[in-house]
Amino acid sequence: MSDLHPVFYEVFEPLPRQGPGSRECTARALALCRGLPPAPRIVDFGCGRGAQTLDLAALTDGTIDAVDAHPPLVERLARAIDERGLQGRVRPSVGDMAQPTLEHGSVDLVWSEGAAYAIGIATALAAWWPLLRPGGHLAFSHVAWLRDDPPAALRAYWQREYPGIAAPEATLALAREAGFEVVGHFPLPAAAWWDDFYAPMETRVRELRAVHAADPEALAVLDATDEEIDMHRRFGEHYGYVFFVLRRPAA
Ligand SMILES: C[S@@+](CC[C@H](N)C(=O)[O-])C[C@H]1O[C@@H](n2cnc3c(N)ncnc32)[C@H](O)[C@@H]1O
Repeated sequence: MSDLHPVFYEVFEPLPRQGPGSRECTARALALCRGLPPAPRIVDFGCGRGAQTLDLAALTDGTIDAVDAHPPLVERLARAIDERGLQGRVRPSVGDMAQPTLEHGSVDLVWSEGAAYAIGIATALAAWWPLLRPGGHLAFSHVAWLRDDPPAALRAYWQREYPGIAAPEATLALAREAGFEVVGHFPLPAAAWWDDFYAPMETRVRELRAVHAADPEALAVLDATDEEIDMHRRFGEHYGYVFFVLRRPAA
């Protein structure tokens, strides 16, 4: 997120989450990760300001390394950790999830909501596999086609924004090729897009239109953001985020 127009950050940084998701979805994916130790070692890659990091801290007794490339988001998470007294359990850091520095075989659960696309799914699977102990889990969410008949306008939009979008089966095939067992997968419900993401984003865009009314470049960024929301409002049944839960086979 570092080469984008500054208004992009003004939109995204204050949002409760930086991508679709909800505590319910985090809890549902976590429940699929059977056999975790009582205090699992967790890594949350592309944590943003840490909505799901804090949920994982509440839902487990584990320790969490939360990594993101964008320092202001990590600073927001660090403040939230201090406010909640979680310094002993949650460690935020600025880093590149494509080149994790954690000890191999040391992690019980790798987590990543809406971020793996930034480095590519195959790259993410290859980079995160060695961190997991045998029997450890990987849970991540990623955009996918949910139907195979997208309207032309939507197809053109995704061709421009993320041509790698594919059916969930394509991600599952990559996971199996990388050696993972598939534990389960499920699409995120509409509320996970709207409640903590698009609804506050719409409000934020409206506020910023007033602030940047004389700045055409800023307004273009805000137009693109509104277009993204509009696409989902019109065609949201054709694509969505899917949570994938995988397991590195036990040795
Ligand atoms: C769509 S946001 C999702 C954030 C958060 N997981 C959530 O759902 O609210 C993707 C995040 O990935 C981070 N990111 C992108 N590339 C990264 C990289 N190579 N290493 C670490 N974080 C990265 C971005 O800074 C951004 O915060």
